[in-house]
Amino acid sequence: MSLQSYLEQQRQKVEARLNELVPQETEPPDSIHRAMRYSLFAGGKRIRPIFCLEAARVVSANATGERTAHADPADLEAIGCSLELVHTYSLIHDDLPALDNDDYRRGKLTCHKAFGEANAILAGDALLTIAFEVLATLAHTPGEVRAALVAELAHAAGTVGGMIAGQVMDLEATNQPVTATLVEQIHCAKTAALFRAAVRMGSIGACASAEQLDALSCFAEHAGLAFQIADDILDVESSTESLGKTAGKDQAQKKLTYPAVYGLERSREIAARHIAQANRALDPFGSSGARLKELAQFLVSRKA
Ligand code: IPE
Ligand code: IPE
Ligand code: MG
Ligand code: MG
Ligand code: MG
Repeated sequence: MSLQSYLEQQRQKVEARLNELVPQETEPPDSIHRAMRYSLFAGGKRIRPIFCLEAARVVSANATGERTAHADPADLEAIGCSLELVHTYSLIHDDLPALDNDDYRRGKLTCHKAFGEANAILAGDALLTIAFEVLATLAHTPGEVRAALVAELAHAAGTVGGMIAGQVMDLEATNQPVTATLVEQIHCAKTAALFRAAVRMGSIGACASAEQLDALSCFAEHAGLAFQIADDILDVESSTESLGKTAGKDQAQKKLTYPAVYGLERSREIAARHIAQANRALDPFGSSGARLKELAQFLVSRKA
């Protein structure tokens, strides 16, 4: 199957499941459910759930003995959805006037523009909360695995090397002198941490061995960093129309980005180097890692 068909098929699977996991718009209080679903179903790439599911597939393809005993396909999908729920919350809050103050997201008005700031804050909070409910209530996954998944997601979204840490550093770095170490730290925390969690949670859900988990974590750290470098490059080179979010915002807001530190050409080279390192980490999986490699390449060659 072509990468494009695969992405489309997986995206549809994730969206169908998200639709089941989040209360319908008619559920009272309907204003919050409308705001949550507005942002969640505005057309994201669903790339984190897709990485999660593909990592699980790679682990299962390389399983020996009883380790696949509790890899349930429906639960794996729900695990993937928990990442998309946290990701969408992070976007809603990232766009708030107090953070990046953006008017467009996923080709539509941002949540706070459409529903007001209070509803946008609460919609983000609610998506975050549902993510953990989804993990806690996985139907066919043993309790200790559910606890490990909750811990993994909480850590990746948190303040010690996680998404919030990255967002704080991102805000504090505005207007500061540019440094290579700091920009890497910010990007690893604000974006790569959740990517890493996506791959690790799929792997944990599929009962990966410690060695498999290490290899896939290394893959995801490099791929996740390359993904945010590509996001920085697209902000400079692409248009608001094709991105579905305001282009050129990073420079206007004096954000610490890879193009700001290295320029576009070197940023592209650094991203490519991280993809190569990500791919090398998949060597132990042989040909079963081919799709993950293709996905990693997509992260840096995408146009939106
Ligand atoms: C955008 O993420 C924010 C970053 C962390 C770079 P995506 O590019 O995955 O956004 P969607 O989900 O497809 O809208
Ligand atoms: C977003 O980084 C990281 C998040 C944790 C949401 P950006 O601020 O660069 O993301 P976009 O460009 O607004 O999607
Ligand atoms: Mg931001
Ligand atoms: Mg932003
Ligand atoms: Mg950006």
